[in-house]
Order: sequence, then structure tokens, then C-alpha cells
Amino acid sequence: MKSIHFVFAYSSLLILLSACAASDPTDTGVEYAPQMYHSIPLDPYSQLDYHKYTPDGKHLIEPVAGTIPRGKVSYLYPFPNTNEGYEEAGKKLTNPLPATPENLAEGKRLYELYCIHCHGEKGDGQGSIVQAGKFPPPPSYYGPQLKDLPEGKMFHSITYGKNLMGSHASQLSPEERWKVILYVKELRAQGLASGTSDMKSEKK
Ligand code: HEC
Repeated sequence: MKSIHFVFAYSSLLILLSACAASDPTDTGVEYAPQMYHSIPLDPYSQLDYHKYTPDGKHLIEPVAGTIPRGKVSYLYPFPNTNEGYEEAGKKLTNPLPATPENLAEGKRLYELYCIHCHGEKGDGQGSIVQAGKFPPPPSYYGPQLKDLPEGKMFHSITYGKNLMGSHASQLSPEERWKVILYVKELRAQGLASGTSDMKSEKK
């Protein structure tokens, strides 16, 4: 009698387990109350089928070409990621923000988050990953290569990246980039005033 119970328990366990391992791995199985997952109203981020009322069949209608979301005008950037774009940005772009103590403080905060580990506390290119031997030193902000760099070129390089430096466009809004630039220029002014262009980082 005992062994019959055992066989029964064992075979129901087998049936239960084999129900989990459907033969088609993409088969989602039977959905209980499917309208809980796929709503009847048009859900912009979830759809099973083409939708007959919109031109491209998508629930999420794309914005009209050329529209700019409210508050995003500053993201319009006319200079392409080319040498000509870089030169032009250097001539035409100027910082729209004044160097107020608040803007500088915010620029410093952002610099310490996103730049300091490469460019260093003083902007001499001796950040922590450089000192640890993990990254070649970036040029000093107040060395021969960058001491006369116009702010438009700074903005361009922060936006698109330059050689070993990656783009920071996804981390910093255009306003934040300008605030960091205020701080970079402050570091440069301090470095130039102290008269110590860091020649170590200028060597290639
Ligand atoms: C991964 C290391 C790294 C990080 C992080 C980094 N940089 Fe750089 N940066 C470099 C290197 C390397 C160069 C030199 C690029 C070249 O000219 O080849 C550079 C160049 C620059 C230049 C000169 C650009 C030009 O047009 O010559 C500026 C300005 C600058 N960085 C600012 C920043 C700011 C501001 C941040 C933070 C938002 C930042 N960098 C983050 C490595 C870094």
C-alpha cells in the first residue's frame, strides 16, 4: 500500500515538472486573463499587432519632423562632428552662462563627478587613473596645447568626445557642459597664475 502511494506521488511530481518544460522554448504557455498583460486601450509602449488607425501601425505616434520637446532647444547643436565643425564651434560658440559663484560651484561639483579622475584636481592631467598607470595623461588645461583653447572647442569636445576622451553628452546637459567649462577655465586661470604648466603631461 505504501509503495502505491509513493508511485502516485512520484508520477504526479513528474507530470508537474514536465508541464514546466514545454517543448517550444518560446511558448509562453497559457495566459491567465490575457487582457491583464495586453490592455484593450492602446498602450504606447506595448502592442501585439499592427494598429489600423495610425499611418505606420504603431501605437506610439512619432513627433512631427522638426519638433523640439519643450525645454530642449539648447540641445540643438549646429556643428557637425568634423574638423570643420570643431573649428567653427571654436569661433562661434560662447558660454551663455555668467561665471556666478553658483554656476562655478555647480561646475566644480560636475567636474569632480565626471572629469577629475582623468584631468586631475588641478586640471594638470594627473587624475587618479593616470597616477595609477591605467590611462595616459590628458594634456594640462594650462599647458601649451590647451592654454589658449577657446571655450567653443571645449564644448564641442565635451559634446562629441575627442580621441581618447569619450563624449559626455549623455551625462551632461548643454547647460551643465557650460558650467563645467566655467570651472575648467577657472582651473586654467589658477594654473597659469601659479606659473606651473605641467610639462610632464605635455610629453607624448
Ligand atoms: C577618460 C578620461 C577623461 C575624462 C573622464 C575626461 N577627459 Fe577630457 N580629455 C581626456 C583626454 C585624453 C584628452 C585629450 C584629447 C586629445 O586631444 O587627444 C582630453 C581633452 C579635453 C579637453 C581639450 C579638448 C580639445 O578640444 O582639445 C577638454 C576641454 C576636456 N578634456 C575637458 C573635460 C571635461 C570638462 C571632462 C568632464 C566632463 C572631461 N574632459 C572628461 C580625457 C578625459
